Amino acid sequence: MSAMASLLFHLLCCLTVFWLLPLPSLSADPDPLQDFCVANLSASISVNGFPCKPASEVTSDDFFFDGFTQEGNTTNAFASFLTPGNVLSFPGLNTLGISMNRVDFAPGGINPPHSHPRASEVGVVIEGKLLVGFVTTNNVYYSKVLTAGHMFAIPRGLVHFQLNVGDGKALAYTAFNSHLPGAAIVPLNLFASSIPNEVLTKTFQVDAELINTIKSKFRP
Ligand code: GLV
Ligand code: MN
Repeated sequence: MSAMASLLFHLLCCLTVFWLLPLPSLSADPDPLQDFCVANLSASISVNGFPCKPASEVTSDDFFFDGFTQEGNTTNAFASFLTPGNVLSFPGLNTLGISMNRVDFAPGGINPPHSHPRASEVGVVIEGKLLVGFVTTNNVYYSKVLTAGHMFAIPRGLVHFQLNVGDGKALAYTAFNSHLPGAAIVPLNLFASSIPNEVLTKTFQVDAELINTIKSKFRP
């Protein structure tokens, strides 16, 4: 190959890489190619998302969701309850790239450290007093105590939590740029999964007894 041909080849490779690289970072869920695609949750074919229910079977009810009308039951170890309004509970959201949660907290309740692999999160406190915090990939911690009307933002994929630091109950609504943001809940990922004890004792540099004590908190 001549020097000029080689130069042109490398230039072409670089341009291709520069053109392709930004694509995945420009959006969350891909843009829909039709007005709507109400999820057929029981379809047997598997795609990256859900296939659409036939348009002839779609009704008004597919675009309305009353799952946030009830307060969540906070009688559990975390004293909080998250009601998801994502494509699984509200199939009309399929392909729209958006979803919401209702999060209820008893006094002292926590939505424990977790991350959303597929979405950034915004939220608004409706009632009570919440400490909202997240940690960057450099382990820098950002937080603030919020009350009714205050909003927060959590960048995609970062570990975050909300803790009720008020005297009464608290309520927040959160929203995501994905119809199914996913949630990797740190304590459950580590202590309610089948990750071997050896991995956990070596990671946290503690003995198996302590790991078993923590694991026992997450057994049903
Ligand atoms: C809060 O962090 C939520 O995921 O709804
Ligand atoms: Mn979250």
